[in-house]
Amino acid sequence: MSAAEAPPPDKGHGMKVFVTGGAGYVGSHCVKRIVAAGHQVTVYDNLSKGHMQAVDPKAEFVRGDLADADKLGKLLRDGRYDAVMHFAAALDVGESVREPLWYFRNNVVNTIGLLEQMKATDIKRIVFSSTCAIYGVPEDLPITEDLPKNPINPYGLTKLTMERAFATCAEAWGLGSTSLRYFNASGAAADGSIGQDYQPVLHLIPVVLQVPLGQRKAVSVFGTDYPTPDGSCVRDYIHVEDLAEAHLLALEAVKEGRTEAYNVGTGRGHSVLEVIAAARAVTGHNIPVELGARRPGDPPELYSDPQKLRDTLGWMPRYREIEAVIETAWRWHSAHPDGFGKA
Ligand SMILES: NC(=O)c1ccc[n+]([C@@H]2O[C@H](COP(=O)([O-])OP(=O)(O)OC[C@H]3O[C@@H](n4cnc5c(N)ncnc54)[C@H](O)[C@@H]3O)[C@@H](O)[C@H]2O)c1
Repeated sequence: MSAAEAPPPDKGHGMKVFVTGGAGYVGSHCVKRIVAAGHQVTVYDNLSKGHMQAVDPKAEFVRGDLADADKLGKLLRDGRYDAVMHFAAALDVGESVREPLWYFRNNVVNTIGLLEQMKATDIKRIVFSSTCAIYGVPEDLPITEDLPKNPINPYGLTKLTMERAFATCAEAWGLGSTSLRYFNASGAAADGSIGQDYQPVLHLIPVVLQVPLGQRKAVSVFGTDYPTPDGSCVRDYIHVEDLAEAHLLALEAVKEGRTEAYNVGTGRGHSVLEVIAAARAVTGHNIPVELGARRPGDPPELYSDPQKLRDTLGWMPRYREIEAVIETAWRWHSAHPDGFGKA
């Protein structure tokens, strides 16, 4: 059997997994799932956006920055990890347009630093948080993995750059990588224990729920003249626990020397106005809207074809209705109106 075909470590004994950005929104939900499946996790996060309270108490937590090569190198040498899951990144599209060099530094240069340390310590498996932003304005819908990648903002370009770098490392030193291209991560843990607390509040569902929480008067809708059924932008809202399941499957399947990429979405699109209507139904609040002009750089419609992930890893999203996604988010935000800080 060649190195490229070597099986992942025996799942029964659990893997040792090093998780960057595991105190953030998606990372913390994935850590919870991976720990529950019997793997041993170390979270590495500088808490620039994440929260220590979000980290599963069964995981080890180390506060540190990706740019700190000495600290990272020592941890990876001492920890003898089987795999890395890499969530840590900057992810505000608008900010990436204003501050592209910071995005290249944190998402590209710092990821290269992580790969250098992985190579030095012979860790050859990585599961990477990629994004549907790599497709730009898609040529076709639903979006399949093989569509052209033409990111229209620096954020998407940084993620595509890393996906391509992984493939070169597979050739050169046998890196195995699985890039999960998320659509819009949404919702919160079904048990209400953790949820999203990203400052500033950017994502549509948390923004909408600020209205019933009394933290915002109305929701601005940017563009009502798109070529979509109701004129507002359409996105694919994937529940964060379905994302976590995809990460667990990817972790257990990633193979040295192989470069894989999967869309992670529901396969259905919902417009901004539909999301607001669903939030009205869930919260019982009338949630006023302010209709405004389009924002530059917003593709009209993005939704996935998740067939490859289903066929290859047997993944199925459990949250199929947007109301069910919003219910979990509402449970979290209404119990923690100030997020982790003052809960
Ligand atoms: N949220 C989404 O809808 C979405 C969609 C597609 C892709 N993604 C990707 O998923 C990943 C996680 O996103 P999220 O929504 O959980 O964001 P998040 O900001 O909540 O999580 C990112 C975490 O990384 C940490 N971090 C950032 N830079 C770091 C550094 N230099 N050193 C150490 N820690 C650092 C932050 O403190 C934070 O805890 C990101 O890579 C993002 O690009 C997110």
